[in-house]
Amino acid sequence: MKDVALHVSNLTVHYDKIPVLWDINLDVPHGKLVGILGPNGAGKSTFIKALLGLIKPVSGSVFFLKKRLREIKGKIAYVPQKEAVDWDFPITVIELVLMGRYPQRGLFRWMKKEDITSAHEALDLVGMKEYMHRQINELSGGQQQRAFLARALLQDADIYFLDEPLSGVDHTSEEIIMRILKNMAQSGKTIFMVHHDLNNVEEYFDWIVLLNVRLIGAGPKAEIFKRDLMQAAYGKNFLLFDETVKISKDRASGVI
Ligand SMILES: Nc1ncnc2c1ncn2[C@@H]1O[C@H](COP(=O)(O)OP(=O)(O)OP(=O)(O)O)[C@@H](O)[C@H]1O
Ligand SMILES: [Mg+2]
Repeated sequence: MKDVALHVSNLTVHYDKIPVLWDINLDVPHGKLVGILGPNGAGKSTFIKALLGLIKPVSGSVFFLKKRLREIKGKIAYVPQKEAVDWDFPITVIELVLMGRYPQRGLFRWMKKEDITSAHEALDLVGMKEYMHRQINELSGGQQQRAFLARALLQDADIYFLDEPLSGVDHTSEEIIMRILKNMAQSGKTIFMVHHDLNNVEEYFDWIVLLNVRLIGAGPKAEIFKRDLMQAAYGKNFLLFDETVKISKDRASGVI
Protein backbone atom coordinates (compact mmCIF):
# COMPACT_ATOMS: atom_id res chain seq x y z
CA MET A 1 0.00 0.00 0.00
CA LYS A 2 1.56 3.31 -1.09
CA ASP A 3 0.25 6.09 1.16
CA VAL A 4 -0.83 4.48 4.40
CA ALA A 5 -2.96 6.86 6.47
CA LEU A 6 -3.24 4.44 9.37
CA HIS A 7 -1.17 1.44 10.34
CA VAL A 8 -2.21 -0.55 13.39
CA SER A 9 -0.49 -3.65 14.67
CA ASN A 10 -1.35 -5.92 17.60
CA LEU A 11 -3.69 -3.42 19.23
CA THR A 12 -5.37 -4.88 22.32
CA VAL A 13 -7.44 -2.86 24.79
CA HIS A 14 -8.88 -3.99 28.12
CA TYR A 15 -11.39 -2.33 30.43
CA ASP A 16 -11.08 -3.81 33.92
CA LYS A 17 -9.12 -6.76 32.50
CA ILE A 18 -11.89 -7.60 30.02
CA PRO A 19 -10.71 -7.32 26.41
CA VAL A 20 -12.82 -4.96 24.33
CA LEU A 21 -10.43 -4.91 21.38
CA TRP A 22 -8.35 -7.95 20.61
CA ASP A 23 -5.20 -8.01 18.49
CA ILE A 24 -6.26 -5.58 15.78
CA ASN A 25 -4.00 -5.38 12.71
CA LEU A 26 -4.81 -3.21 9.73
CA ASP A 27 -3.66 -0.68 7.15
CA VAL A 28 -5.86 1.99 5.63
CA PRO A 29 -4.75 3.96 2.54
CA HIS A 30 -4.80 7.75 2.54
CA GLY A 31 -7.64 9.66 0.84
CA LYS A 32 -10.49 7.31 1.70
CA LEU A 33 -13.84 7.78 3.40
CA VAL A 34 -13.74 4.92 5.88
CA GLY A 35 -16.78 3.51 7.67
CA ILE A 36 -16.14 1.94 11.07
CA LEU A 37 -18.95 -0.58 11.50
CA GLY A 38 -19.97 -3.09 14.14
CA PRO A 39 -22.78 -3.69 16.64
CA ASN A 40 -23.30 -1.75 19.89
CA GLY A 41 -20.45 -2.40 22.28
CA ALA A 42 -18.20 -3.73 19.48
CA GLY A 43 -15.43 -1.37 20.54
CA LYS A 44 -15.74 1.24 17.77
CA SER A 45 -15.42 4.27 20.06
CA THR A 46 -12.73 2.52 22.06
CA PHE A 47 -10.80 1.85 18.84
CA ILE A 48 -10.72 5.57 17.99
CA LYS A 49 -9.82 6.57 21.56
CA ALA A 50 -6.99 4.06 21.65
CA LEU A 51 -5.62 5.28 18.30
CA LEU A 52 -5.67 8.86 19.55
CA GLY A 53 -3.99 8.04 22.84
CA LEU A 54 -7.07 8.91 24.91
CA ILE A 55 -6.99 5.48 26.50
CA LYS A 56 -3.96 3.36 27.01
CA PRO A 57 -3.92 0.03 25.19
CA VAL A 58 -2.45 -3.13 26.70
CA SER A 59 -0.36 -3.54 23.58
CA GLY A 60 -0.08 -2.31 20.04
CA SER A 61 1.56 0.24 17.82
CA VAL A 62 -0.10 2.90 15.70
CA PHE A 63 1.26 5.06 12.87
CA PHE A 64 -0.49 7.90 11.05
CA LEU A 65 1.05 8.66 7.66
CA LYS A 66 4.12 6.74 8.86
CA LYS A 67 4.44 8.96 11.93
CA ARG A 68 3.83 8.46 15.63
CA LEU A 69 0.86 10.27 17.17
CA ARG A 70 3.05 12.81 18.99
CA GLU A 71 4.68 13.86 15.72
CA ILE A 72 1.41 14.40 13.89
CA LYS A 73 -1.11 15.24 16.60
CA GLY A 74 -2.02 18.69 15.23
CA LYS A 75 -2.91 17.10 11.90
CA ILE A 76 -5.55 14.82 13.37
CA ALA A 77 -9.08 16.03 14.15
CA TYR A 78 -11.58 14.20 16.36
CA VAL A 79 -15.31 14.69 16.82
CA PRO A 80 -16.40 12.50 19.77
CA GLN A 81 -19.67 10.61 20.03
CA LYS A 82 -22.55 12.93 21.01
CA GLU A 83 -23.02 11.23 24.37
CA ALA A 84 -19.46 12.16 25.37
CA VAL A 85 -19.98 15.91 24.91
CA ASP A 86 -21.04 18.22 27.76
CA TRP A 87 -23.76 20.12 25.93
CA ASP A 88 -24.44 22.39 28.93
CA PHE A 89 -20.95 23.84 28.75
CA PRO A 90 -21.64 27.55 28.20
CA ILE A 91 -20.17 28.22 24.80
CA THR A 92 -21.50 29.69 21.58
CA VAL A 93 -21.23 28.10 18.16
CA ILE A 94 -18.52 30.47 16.92
CA GLU A 95 -16.49 29.92 20.12
CA LEU A 96 -16.79 26.17 19.67
CA VAL A 97 -15.60 26.41 16.06
CA LEU A 98 -12.64 28.62 17.01
CA MET A 99 -11.52 25.92 19.44
CA GLY A 100 -10.40 24.12 16.27
CA ARG A 101 -7.50 26.61 16.16
CA TYR A 102 -6.33 26.09 19.75
CA PRO A 103 -3.74 23.45 18.83
CA GLN A 104 -2.01 26.03 16.61
CA ARG A 105 -2.62 29.17 18.67
CA GLY A 106 -2.67 27.91 22.26
CA LEU A 107 -5.58 28.23 24.64
CA PHE A 108 -4.96 31.75 25.93
CA ARG A 109 -3.63 33.44 22.82
CA TRP A 110 -5.72 35.92 20.93
CA MET A 111 -7.25 34.58 17.79
CA LYS A 112 -6.00 36.16 14.60
CA LYS A 113 -8.32 37.87 12.18
CA GLU A 114 -7.73 35.07 9.68
CA ASP A 115 -8.98 32.57 12.28
CA ILE A 116 -12.28 34.44 12.59
CA THR A 117 -12.56 34.57 8.78
CA SER A 118 -11.88 30.83 8.54
CA ALA A 119 -14.49 30.16 11.25
CA HIS A 120 -17.07 32.15 9.30
CA GLU A 121 -16.21 30.24 6.13
CA ALA A 122 -16.48 26.87 7.88
CA LEU A 123 -19.85 27.84 9.39
CA ASP A 124 -21.02 28.98 5.99
CA LEU A 125 -19.96 25.66 4.46
CA VAL A 126 -21.98 23.64 6.99
CA GLY A 127 -24.93 26.04 6.65
CA MET A 128 -24.66 27.33 10.24
CA LYS A 129 -23.55 30.95 9.90
CA GLU A 130 -26.84 32.38 11.11
CA TYR A 131 -26.54 30.31 14.32
CA MET A 132 -23.03 31.42 15.22
CA HIS A 133 -24.02 33.34 18.37
CA ARG A 134 -26.32 30.61 19.72
CA GLN A 135 -25.39 28.52 22.74
CA ILE A 136 -24.59 24.94 21.68
CA ASN A 137 -27.33 23.51 23.93
CA GLU A 138 -29.90 25.49 21.94
CA LEU A 139 -29.16 23.62 18.70
CA SER A 140 -30.89 20.61 17.18
CA GLY A 141 -28.94 17.33 16.91
CA GLY A 142 -28.12 17.98 13.26
CA GLN A 143 -27.02 21.54 13.94
CA GLN A 144 -24.79 20.35 16.78
CA GLN A 145 -23.03 17.87 14.52
CA ARG A 146 -22.60 20.48 11.80
CA ALA A 147 -21.06 22.88 14.35
CA PHE A 148 -18.62 20.17 15.44
CA LEU A 149 -17.76 19.44 11.83
CA ALA A 150 -17.00 23.15 11.33
CA ARG A 151 -14.68 23.00 14.34
CA ALA A 152 -12.90 19.98 12.84
CA LEU A 153 -12.59 21.81 9.50
CA LEU A 154 -10.82 24.68 11.23
CA GLN A 155 -8.16 22.29 12.41
CA ASP A 156 -7.17 21.75 8.78
CA ALA A 157 -6.13 18.20 9.61
CA ASP A 158 -4.99 15.38 7.32
CA ILE A 159 -6.93 12.68 9.13
CA TYR A 160 -10.38 13.07 10.68
CA PHE A 161 -12.15 10.80 13.16
CA LEU A 162 -15.89 11.28 13.60
CA ASP A 163 -17.77 9.08 16.06
CA GLU A 164 -21.34 8.69 14.77
CA PRO A 165 -21.67 12.16 13.24
CA LEU A 166 -25.04 11.18 11.76
CA SER A 167 -26.71 9.94 14.92
CA GLY A 168 -29.83 11.98 15.75
CA VAL A 169 -29.29 14.08 12.67
CA ASP A 170 -32.04 15.34 10.29
CA HIS A 171 -31.99 14.56 6.58
CA THR A 172 -30.69 17.97 5.48
CA SER A 173 -27.83 17.90 7.99
CA GLU A 174 -26.94 14.37 6.89
CA GLU A 175 -26.74 15.46 3.26
CA ILE A 176 -24.60 18.48 4.11
CA ILE A 177 -22.25 16.48 6.33
CA MET A 178 -21.81 13.67 3.79
CA ARG A 179 -21.25 16.06 0.90
CA ILE A 180 -18.48 17.82 2.84
CA LEU A 181 -16.86 14.56 3.97
CA LYS A 182 -16.87 13.15 0.43
CA ASN A 183 -15.25 16.33 -0.88
CA MET A 184 -12.63 16.14 1.83
CA ALA A 185 -11.76 12.55 0.93
CA GLN A 186 -11.60 13.50 -2.75
CA SER A 187 -9.16 16.28 -1.94
CA GLY A 188 -6.87 13.74 -0.28
CA LYS A 189 -7.90 13.68 3.38
CA THR A 190 -8.68 10.46 5.20
CA ILE A 191 -11.99 10.37 7.07
CA PHE A 192 -12.85 7.71 9.62
CA MET A 193 -16.49 7.67 10.57
CA VAL A 194 -18.36 5.38 12.95
CA HIS A 195 -21.68 4.60 11.36
CA HIS A 196 -24.84 2.66 12.18
CA ASP A 197 -27.23 2.81 9.24
CA LEU A 198 -26.18 -0.15 7.10
CA ASN A 199 -28.56 0.97 4.34
CA ASN A 200 -26.11 3.74 3.43
CA VAL A 201 -22.89 1.79 3.39
CA GLU A 202 -22.60 1.46 -0.41
CA GLU A 203 -23.44 5.09 -0.93
CA TYR A 204 -21.18 6.62 1.68
CA PHE A 205 -17.93 4.71 2.03
CA ASP A 206 -14.87 3.71 0.04
CA TRP A 207 -13.38 1.51 2.71
CA ILE A 208 -14.77 -0.41 5.69
CA VAL A 209 -13.35 -1.42 9.05
CA LEU A 210 -15.65 -4.06 10.55
CA LEU A 211 -15.23 -4.70 14.26
CA ASN A 212 -16.64 -6.86 16.97
CA VAL A 213 -13.95 -6.95 19.64
CA ARG A 214 -11.81 -8.61 16.97
CA LEU A 215 -11.25 -7.18 13.53
CA ILE A 216 -13.74 -9.02 11.32
CA GLY A 217 -12.48 -7.35 8.17
CA ALA A 218 -10.90 -4.21 6.74
CA GLY A 219 -10.70 -3.30 3.09
CA PRO A 220 -12.55 -1.82 0.10
CA LYS A 221 -16.32 -1.91 0.70
CA ALA A 222 -16.87 -4.51 -2.04
CA GLU A 223 -14.65 -6.94 -0.14
CA ILE A 224 -16.07 -6.33 3.31
CA PHE A 225 -19.77 -5.53 2.87
CA LYS A 226 -20.67 -9.18 2.34
CA ARG A 227 -23.06 -11.56 4.04
CA ASP A 228 -20.52 -13.82 5.78
CA LEU A 229 -18.46 -10.97 7.20
CA MET A 230 -21.48 -8.88 8.20
CA GLN A 231 -23.00 -11.90 9.95
CA ALA A 232 -19.70 -12.59 11.66
CA ALA A 233 -19.84 -9.06 13.08
CA TYR A 234 -23.56 -8.61 13.72
CA GLY A 235 -24.55 -12.21 14.52
CA LYS A 236 -26.29 -14.98 12.65
CA ASN A 237 -29.66 -13.34 13.21
CA PHE A 238 -28.64 -10.58 10.86
CA LEU A 239 -31.09 -12.06 8.36
CA LEU A 240 -31.99 -8.86 6.62
CA PHE A 241 -28.63 -8.67 4.92
CA ASP A 242 -29.93 -9.23 1.37
CA GLU A 243 -32.58 -6.52 1.81
CA THR A 244 -30.01 -4.20 3.32
CA VAL A 245 -27.67 -4.70 0.38
CA LYS A 246 -30.49 -4.03 -2.08
CA ILE A 247 -31.55 -0.81 -0.36
CA SER A 248 -27.93 0.19 -0.05
CA LYS A 249 -27.24 -0.42 -3.77
CA ASP A 250 -30.45 1.37 -4.80
CA ARG A 251 -29.52 4.38 -2.71
CA ALA A 252 -25.99 4.44 -4.07
CA SER A 253 -27.24 4.36 -7.67
CA GLY A 254 -29.88 7.00 -6.98
CA VAL A 255 -32.87 4.70 -7.67
CA ILE A 256 -34.38 5.58 -4.29
N1 LIG B 1 -14.84 3.53 30.42
C1 LIG B 1 -15.23 2.24 30.31
N2 LIG B 1 -15.07 1.39 31.35
C2 LIG B 1 -15.43 0.08 31.24
N3 LIG B 1 -15.99 -0.45 30.14
C3 LIG B 1 -16.20 0.36 29.09
C4 LIG B 1 -15.84 1.74 29.12
N4 LIG B 1 -16.15 2.31 27.94
C5 LIG B 1 -16.68 1.31 27.19
N5 LIG B 1 -16.72 0.14 27.88
C6 LIG B 1 -17.19 -1.15 27.36
O1 LIG B 1 -16.34 -1.50 26.28
C7 LIG B 1 -17.09 -2.07 25.22
C8 LIG B 1 -16.88 -1.28 23.95
O2 LIG B 1 -17.45 0.04 24.12
P1 LIG B 1 -17.44 1.12 22.97
O3 LIG B 1 -18.04 2.35 23.53
O4 LIG B 1 -16.09 1.20 22.38
O5 LIG B 1 -18.42 0.42 21.91
P2 LIG B 1 -19.06 1.02 20.58
O6 LIG B 1 -18.81 0.01 19.50
O7 LIG B 1 -18.59 2.40 20.36
O8 LIG B 1 -20.62 0.99 20.94
P3 LIG B 1 -21.82 2.00 20.49
O9 LIG B 1 -22.22 1.55 19.12
O10 LIG B 1 -22.88 1.71 21.49
O11 LIG B 1 -21.31 3.40 20.55
C9 LIG B 1 -18.54 -2.11 25.70
O12 LIG B 1 -18.80 -3.40 26.21
C10 LIG B 1 -18.57 -1.07 26.78
O13 LIG B 1 -19.56 -1.38 27.74
MG1 LIG C 1 -19.49 4.21 20.30
